[in-house]
Amino acid sequence: MSTTLLAIETSCDETAAAIVVDGKEIKSNIIYSQIELHKLYGGVVPEIASRKHVEKINQVIRAAIEEAQVTWDDIDGIAVTYGPGLVGPLLVGVSAAKTLAFAKGKPIVGVHHIEGHIAANYIENDELKPPFMCMVASGGHSHLVYVKDYGEFEIVGRTRDDAAGEAFDKVARAIGLGYPGGPKIDKLSKEGNPSAIAFPRSYMEDAPYDFSFSGLKSAVLNYLNSCEMKGIEINRADVAASFQQAVIDVLTDNSVRAAKDFGCTKLALAGGVASNSSLRQSLIDRCAKESIEFYYPSPVYCTDNAAMIGVAGYHEFIKGTRHDLNLNAVPNLKIGER
Ligand code: KG4
Ligand code: ZN
Repeated sequence: MSTTLLAIETSCDETAAAIVVDGKEIKSNIIYSQIELHKLYGGVVPEIASRKHVEKINQVIRAAIEEAQVTWDDIDGIAVTYGPGLVGPLLVGVSAAKTLAFAKGKPIVGVHHIEGHIAANYIENDELKPPFMCMVASGGHSHLVYVKDYGEFEIVGRTRDDAAGEAFDKVARAIGLGYPGGPKIDKLSKEGNPSAIAFPRSYMEDAPYDFSFSGLKSAVLNYLNSCEMKGIEINRADVAASFQQAVIDVLTDNSVRAAKDFGCTKLALAGGVASNSSLRQSLIDRCAKESIEFYYPSPVYCTDNAAMIGVAGYHEFIKGTRHDLNLNAVPNLKIGER
């Protein structure tokens, strides 16, 4: 017998719903991105995001059900992101899930957003099963996670300050590219020289799998200021490419080191930054040299979406994990917490 879940994701600025069968088959994956709305402000405005989620959530859920051509009789449960993320946006998804669960008599399984990002790797990679090492790099997180089993995680490294995506967004703003910066830096970097400017790479001696991106961000800002003061014309493509290479070198080195140290023959990449084409290539090349199998999701499953929540939710659902109508948004939810 198969298990069909309606999945809902509203932790940041994407209103998303999906129908997922057996944690694998994505019957529909509807994403309403609010990016255009937040661009005006150079970043996500939580209050605006919450209001837009309220406006869009029913529409997006309806579209997911229609596109999948299922009825409520086919749906076995509802998977919903309940943390971490912005509290207002999270509450919209959680309230929608609870309302539908009550009205339709369906069970709920609450899902951790980062566990969702990790689970995105299962969608297109049949052979990927735990244990493996996963580098999660998004706008809010940069974590190295040892995935011991489905639903069993150990964080082995984390950022001390900015997340990788946050650094992309801040540097993009500084060179006038606008929000969100990741895809724009990715594109502009292709026209630049990654060795043009020697930006620093931070490695922590006492914590070999941790990251720090704020020093790199400051180095870029200092470089831009000093060029301006000296009247030197800035080559934005070279700045973008050199910054991006500094991030890629650290993410690649630390994740491959962690995989080897933990005896993992498999390494996966997840989160919005995972859609970066040069980062993928760097890890493809390094993993080939180190005989590590490397996995990454298609770009649509890297940035926020509900399909990944349906996949992570499925693995909890079949274990019997259920949440009741007291489920609340938990903005600082820890990975592995139920
Ligand atoms: O996972 P995500 O959609 O949302 C969070 O959970 O944070 O990640 C969004 C982040 C943003 O910081 C965005 O700039 C970054 O992912 N991003 C990228 C690329 N596409 C999105 N960073 C680098 N290269 C990209 N191609
Ligand atoms: Zn995310």
